[in-house]
Amino acid sequence: MLRESQARDRPVFVELLVSPGVNTYLGGPRSRADAEGEVPELPGRWPGSFVVDRDGEMIGHILLRRPTGDRRPAANGRVDLGYLFLPQTWGRGYASEACAAALDWFDAALPAEPVVLFTQSANTASMRLAAKLGFAEVERFHAWDAEQWLGLRPAAGS
Ligand SMILES: CC(C)(COP(=O)(O)OP(=O)(O)OC[C@H]1O[C@@H](n2cnc3c(N)ncnc32)[C@H](O)[C@@H]1OP(=O)(O)O)[C@@H](O)C(=O)NCCC(=O)NCCS
Repeated sequence: MLRESQARDRPVFVELLVSPGVNTYLGGPRSRADAEGEVPELPGRWPGSFVVDRDGEMIGHILLRRPTGDRRPAANGRVDLGYLFLPQTWGRGYASEACAAALDWFDAALPAEPVVLFTQSANTASMRLAAKLGFAEVERFHAWDAEQWLGLRPAAGS
């Protein structure tokens, strides 16, 4: 189930920041002290932020955001998709199902808009997920000491 975040989800938001497995391709894990200081009492509350709930427990976070600031030209001004799941839940299709549902929500809200996605190309699970969700490669570039992949999913109405 996709739902709005609640205060009781906070320990899982912290876990997603400190988990070495989750952060292998995201610049490495945060220290628990930093994460505890950083995560607010009610984390992840904005339109496009979805807690993925399995049997009443948070297992992942899906983020649709429109970052400001200068980015790769193909991504400037566009909404991007991010996804973080607890390692013990990987490989069971949860991310595919949950991201597809979040993108359906997005398509209904903003049918004229494409979505972009950044991931390290070495992140095999993420690359497979991006392809399954309909993202096609725009470019690869080098940043943060690794090859990065930028994909684009065309607007639903196009
Ligand atoms: C990326 C991530 C969300 C995938 O979650 P998941 O629950 O394993 O995804 P799914 O089970 O829906 O699988 C998606 C695809 O990836 C494949 N996959 C999953 N784990 C894999 C692995 N370790 N190696 C290779 N492929 C893998 C699955 O087989 C599936 O492809 P298929 O249907 O063609 O077989 C999860 O690994 C994760 O949270 N990683 C850490 C955070 C991250 O790196 N996010 C990306 C940057 S935003």
